[in-house]
This record gives sequence, structure tokens and C-alpha cells, in this order.
Amino acid sequence: MKQHEKLEKNIGLLTLFMVLAVSIGGLTQIVPLFFQDVVNEPVDGMRPYTALQLEGRDIYIREGCVGCHSQMIRPFRAETERYGHYSVAGESVWDHPFLWGSKRTGPDLARVGGRYSDDWHRAHLYNPRNVVPESKMPSYPWLVENTLDGRATARKMQALRTLGVPYTDDDIAGAREAVRGVSEMDALIAYLQVLGTAITSTR
Ligand code: HEC
Repeated sequence: MKQHEKLEKNIGLLTLFMVLAVSIGGLTQIVPLFFQDVVNEPVDGMRPYTALQLEGRDIYIREGCVGCHSQMIRPFRAETERYGHYSVAGESVWDHPFLWGSKRTGPDLARVGGRYSDDWHRAHLYNPRNVVPESKMPSYPWLVENTLDGRATARKMQALRTLGVPYTDDDIAGAREAVRGVSEMDALIAYLQVLGTAITSTR
């Protein structure tokens, strides 16, 4: 009893023991994850983003979509009924950085791939009110006019390869041609349409 009182009244000691207690709790949760294949290995049938999808993902990041949209379906019934199969770690192993997000002003997009047509996305991103009259989402009309030059695409893929994304030399060699002249709109849509499709069969 006496000793505990000493601990409670000594801020330095209390801090030390708190840090110790929290780190043990944290480490026992986090460390095992580094050694589990289920979180380190891609899910079956997953393919790295194509050059165009990758450019689309960078536009998603640039435009701040992650500030309003999560990409993380939690394993709760209300979520899986609305969005589809909950997100699994193996779907994100090649995502650098992760775009799980934490804010849902708009719906979760983890499985939006294939849910709408390309034309729907085009109309929606150009001006969301065209298809969803009460929408609060901003318009992104410039995506139609901006085109990609693809100058950095191959280098982006090389950088991702050093992080373990299995791009082949052919993927990288053809990257610039695959995206040059394509509108940012089409690139972003290509990215949206692949989201969550690696395990849609279980949806
Ligand atoms: C200020 C918050 C905000 C930002 C930023 C934002 N959105 Fe949205 N988004 C919403 C809201 C609210 C909705 C629901 C209404 C609607 O469908 O327009 C929505 C809906 C969507 C939908 C339809 C999802 C579904 O399941 O029906 C897609 C796709 C989408 N947004 C993509 C994007 C992309 C891509 C970006 C970035 C270019 C973006 N959003 C930026 C708020 C936002």
C-alpha cells in the first residue's frame, strides 16, 4: 500500500510505470502482427495497380479525397451490409501510403469498384449534384481538362518495387506510354473501379 502511494505521488515514477504498462499492452498486440502471413501477404488473385490506376491513386491523394472518405470496412453487420465484405489486411499490403482514412463525411470507398459505371463517376466527379442532388461533395471539373504526361510514372513504380510491390520490368518500361495523354478524370476512375475488387467474389 505504502509503495503504491509513493508511485502515485511521484510524477516521474508514475510516468515511467505508465509508459511501461502501455508499451507492454501495445507490443503484445502489435509485434505478433509482423510475423503473421495473413497480414503480410496479399490476398489471392490481387494484382498491383496498373500505371493508370497508380496515377489515379495519386490524384485521389492530391485532391484530398481521403479527408472525407475512408477505405476501411469494419467487421460490423451495419457496415458489411452497406459496403460489402469487411476490409482485410492482405488487400492493403501494396498500398504505400495506406488510405484507410478516419473521416466519413462521404461513404466508405473500400469496395466502390464496379458499383457504378465509369460514366456515373465522370458525371459525379465533374459535379456531384448532377447525379446526387443533395450531395455536399466538392466538384472536380479540372480533372477532365488535365492530362497526364507520365514522366514520373515509371519512377513511382520503381520506388514501390523497392517497397515490395511486384512490378515487372515490362510494367515499368511501359508505364509512360500507358498513361501519357490520358485525362486525370479517367485515371481517377480507373483507380476507383479497382478498389476492393480483389475479393468481391465473397461479397
Ligand atoms: C467534403 C467531403 C468530400 C470530399 C473532399 C470528397 N467527397 Fe466524395 N462524397 C462525399 C459525400 C458527402 C458523398 C455522398 C453524396 C454523393 O454521392 O455525392 C460522396 C460520395 C462519393 C462517391 C459515391 C460513393 C457511393 O458509394 O455512393 C464516390 C465514388 C466519391 N464520393 C469519390 C470521391 C473522390 C474520388 C473524391 C476526391 C476527388 C471525393 N469523393 C472527395 C464527400 C466528399
